[in-house]
Amino acid sequence: MKKNYSQLSPKNFLYERKGPWPQPSPAHPIGESAAVLHLPCSEQIDWWLHIGSRYMLTLLYTPIAYLKGIINPGLAEVSNTEFMQLFQHSMLSKFICEKFDQNELDLFKADMQPGSKYFYIDMTPVKVVKPFPGIYCSGTKTLIREVEKNKYEPIAIWVEKTNEIIRPNDPGFELAKYYVLQGGALCATLVIHPLLHFPLDAINAITKTALPTEHVLFKLLHPHTRFTLPLENAVLTFKTSLLQAKWWMPYAPYPGDKEGLRELLVEGYMGITNESSYPRFSYPKAPPKVFSTYGEFQDAYFAVFKKYVSVILAEVAPDDYYVKCWATWISQYVPGFPNGDEIFKGTNFVDAVSFYLWSVSVGHTIDHYDYGHMDIRKVPLRLRQAPPKKNDKVHDRSKLTTFWDNGKYTMANILFFNSTVVTSLITTEYDFAESKLQKAVEEFKNDLRKVDQEMKARGDCYIPLEDIARSIQS
Ligand SMILES: [Fe+2]
Repeated sequence: MKKNYSQLSPKNFLYERKGPWPQPSPAHPIGESAAVLHLPCSEQIDWWLHIGSRYMLTLLYTPIAYLKGIINPGLAEVSNTEFMQLFQHSMLSKFICEKFDQNELDLFKADMQPGSKYFYIDMTPVKVVKPFPGIYCSGTKTLIREVEKNKYEPIAIWVEKTNEIIRPNDPGFELAKYYVLQGGALCATLVIHPLLHFPLDAINAITKTALPTEHVLFKLLHPHTRFTLPLENAVLTFKTSLLQAKWWMPYAPYPGDKEGLRELLVEGYMGITNESSYPRFSYPKAPPKVFSTYGEFQDAYFAVFKKYVSVILAEVAPDDYYVKCWATWISQYVPGFPNGDEIFKGTNFVDAVSFYLWSVSVGHTIDHYDYGHMDIRKVPLRLRQAPPKKNDKVHDRSKLTTFWDNGKYTMANILFFNSTVVTSLITTEYDFAESKLQKAVEEFKNDLRKVDQEMKARGDCYIPLEDIARSIQS
């Protein structure tokens, strides 16, 4: 590539150098990721045609969703074994934390025996939710013991609102489990999953605006950027977004008002002081460690991306002017992203690009696919019996949620939580002119197929390869 930026004409850029650009979030400049608000018209139309219009059509399903809520009221029973299954064999396993802080050591000192390995599940971020009348929320911390690799048993649940520790032999344990699962639903969808969305928008926008379309990095990234910016904008700014949590919205299933929900996003991005489960966001070099086969599934795919990206980026000169500018601009909006001086040091370039590609495709879609397949009557978002003390039984499981609670949740599942695949990862085409790079693409796809087959053979396939989207589309 030419070294002097001014030598290229606007025609060498996707939007003639007038493309989207990140800015501090007007909703919360300190606590939320940089936002991309001014979107090219063509991207908005593309999103409406392929995704927004589906939302409108799907609303016709509302009466059926509510009818299903009437036929199957309340919640379903969750045994202790299933309770652990829901965490150890799903995207909720991301919450299994190894590093105990003083808080948890103090809480559970009577329950931790020498010779055993313990982990815990921290659902205290939900304390910022301001529940609607008749609905309850409580933070929880759950101590679990490792039985064998990736298999755990519950030892005790601390319920924040009642400040009680409830153990499996106590009648209050059933309700405590639902509170942990409610915390899982809230923290999954509004604390940790958003980290796969919003912080990466700056990379999407700056790639489209600042890299020449002939640059190999542009050709590598651009197929993985479609639909995402208008989608993010809709979630964060539309008056009809489910985050607005209006009572009349048939697809808004959350238990509290919009201010509290938005605070959950802030907790995910800014982190929570003295809580190791919720560190402040910093752009990772690889998927964070997850203590389950879900983590192994993620890692297996990440290795494939890294191999592919290493081959493609070997074409980029180690002092490439455009990459240095690209990295510098991104680093101003994405904490932890290597800047222009750092991008070519060690494996920074390959790591940064591999993580982006993996995250917007595999990392993001499996979260949706896995969560979308959970039983809404076992992982509730709303609860209508106050948090338990010891000996507090569930009064009536069929009244823990109402039919409209379940109806709204079903609609949100269909509209937003289930994965959407308009363009799949395995059918991605890259505009590389060099035949050796096209060969690398073929090898990449073969490697993806191998991981898919291996994971299916060992019974740990969390999403079939053909269902993985190539960009954030849901
Ligand atoms: Fe998502």
